Amino acid sequence: MLDVTETIPLEADAGGIRDYLALQENKTLLRFLTCGSVDDGKSTLIGRLLYDTKLIFEDQLAALEKDSKKHGTTGEDIDLALLVDGLEAEREQGITIDVAYRFFATPKRKFIVADTPGHEQYTRNMATGASTADVAVVLVDARQGILPQTRRHSIIASLLGIRHVVLAVNKIDLVDFDEAVFAGIVADYRAFAKDLGFATIQPIPMSARYGDNVTRASANTPWYTGQSLIGYLETLDVESDLRDKPFRFPVQYVNRPNLNFRGFAGTVASGEIGVGDAVVVAKSGKPSRVKRIATYDGDRERAGEGEAVTLVLEDEIEVSRGNMLVAPDARPHVADQLAANVVWFDEHPLMPGRMYILRTETDEVSATVSHLKHRVNIHNFAHEAAKCLDLNEVGVCNFSLQAPIAFDTFAENRTTGSFVLIDRLTNATVGAGMILHPLRRAANIHWQALDVTKASRAEQKHQKPAVLWFTGLSGSGKSTIANLLEKKLHASGRHTYILDGDNVRHGLNRDLGFTEEDRVENIRRVSEVARLMADAGLIVLVSFISPFRAERRMARDMMPEGEFVEVFVDTPFEECAKRDPKGLYARALKGEIKNFTGVDSPYEEPERADIHLRTVGREPEELADELEAWLREKGYC
Ligand code: ADX
Repeated sequence: MLDVTETIPLEADAGGIRDYLALQENKTLLRFLTCGSVDDGKSTLIGRLLYDTKLIFEDQLAALEKDSKKHGTTGEDIDLALLVDGLEAEREQGITIDVAYRFFATPKRKFIVADTPGHEQYTRNMATGASTADVAVVLVDARQGILPQTRRHSIIASLLGIRHVVLAVNKIDLVDFDEAVFAGIVADYRAFAKDLGFATIQPIPMSARYGDNVTRASANTPWYTGQSLIGYLETLDVESDLRDKPFRFPVQYVNRPNLNFRGFAGTVASGEIGVGDAVVVAKSGKPSRVKRIATYDGDRERAGEGEAVTLVLEDEIEVSRGNMLVAPDARPHVADQLAANVVWFDEHPLMPGRMYILRTETDEVSATVSHLKHRVNIHNFAHEAAKCLDLNEVGVCNFSLQAPIAFDTFAENRTTGSFVLIDRLTNATVGAGMILHPLRRAANIHWQALDVTKASRAEQKHQKPAVLWFTGLSGSGKSTIANLLEKKLHASGRHTYILDGDNVRHGLNRDLGFTEEDRVENIRRVSEVARLMADAGLIVLVSFISPFRAERRMARDMMPEGEFVEVFVDTPFEECAKRDPKGLYARALKGEIKNFTGVDSPYEEPERADIHLRTVGREPEELADELEAWLREKGYC
């Protein structure tokens, strides 16, 4: 999914690169990411690492020296930040990229550093870049100490399963290489991070700008006897244990080039598999054995974690994209309810009740947050009650999925235990989830089959059930038109019911106000009620402002195709404010009512309503007639 740029640090002739890569093959690989606050020197550090390990293209170097003299902030010295920032500028010109993976190596080890640009979307990029990282290098400006961002990024790193932290106390030159400053910051950080579950925390005083303790020990910090950053990263033991975990193979696609071949393509997420080994399909539990392990370079006997292969099974069993082939004796969870840690990175808050797309490694399902259990306070880890999660906030949520998925807990497996959340309308990635455990409640509640069906109930009423969903500003005429229409339908023998915002808010929804999260819940409940009423065979008229596209879309998706009819009662704000039947606009405009739709709370107009009623200059009676005619023409009554 990500674009990858590799800074391959060589003379650009192919022979050189081949030799170089051959040389690297036997070295172990360490993945890390840098995080910290704005201006902490992240770019400078990455530039310094690339520079000091002599791995910058010669021509980039020459350009850098020239640029530093022109724009640099460091006088005659080379401004290393320009190196990384310069590459960022390149990216901005065309290629969209979330995370750049920079590759470099020392004689002892290979490194991939996830360079996560951008301050605005930092947590999002960090969550993406961190998903495979072994180590987080947390940069702290020695003059500033631990800042809120330091805490936030450390909490996220911990949630994302990073086990090792380097506390890089940077710009130590600017505090005169003072040991006491360093010791103070280290003590603060250790006190803060003690419950974050990191296996190691290694503090290093450094100056990324001048190179102190980056690639070699500095004479300026005689009181520091530990290793340089590179020395430490070269020797840190982070061997992946994914190969020892149970076999997991998320199926990316079913490869069926002809009738004689049917293979399941994907990447082994954990464990190993060999020809002849038993597997089961995670969701159905159907067993089989591996007949072949095919790759582009021919068949193999075995495959392990990280390898992309196509598995051919001995039996013709159903496995579709998103399902997993797994070890029979250690199966993943299969459930439609789960609890997870969530990191939210969208401007628009996470709303319980709103539907998102939950995407795992290869599976995808609609999901709502059924309960936001708490938000984590980044200063003291307190669990706080919250109604939504704002940009960069972290919390624990229960999810309810429209269909079961197969997964592990994040503690068991970082790959099969995580997911991202996608906004259904914009398709943007808005959050990341780390699964804590399945929720079993649903397992004890079964759907009860009933003998009198919706069809028979509708038949008895000689009508086709429908939900006519009136949306529009307060005072736009929704209720007036719905009322007139219901009278007509009733008079012609139809069985109807009106769900009206004001009325439902007197009973079922009397606990809800007008904040965004309350309106989401308001619409979720009324959609469920409308569905039940349609199931009873009724023609339901719903008259709610229902200001958000996401919830109207959700309501539509809950009903069978054709049963949901969106009626946009389109009256401009000025006209509604002029009519002001309940005197609410006058009060809202004076600031006496908060969160008033159209004043200080948004109304998202329908993009493709089934019926668009422009009310200005028309009589409600006329509009109701028009609606009735439409319903007759379409066979609703
Ligand atoms: S919705 O946005 O959640 O769909 P709903 O249709 O239930 O709103 O309720 C809207 C009615 O509540 C309005 O017609 C108006 O009479 C009343 N009301 C009171 N306060 C507000 C407010 N802040 N914004 C909109 N309507 C309000």
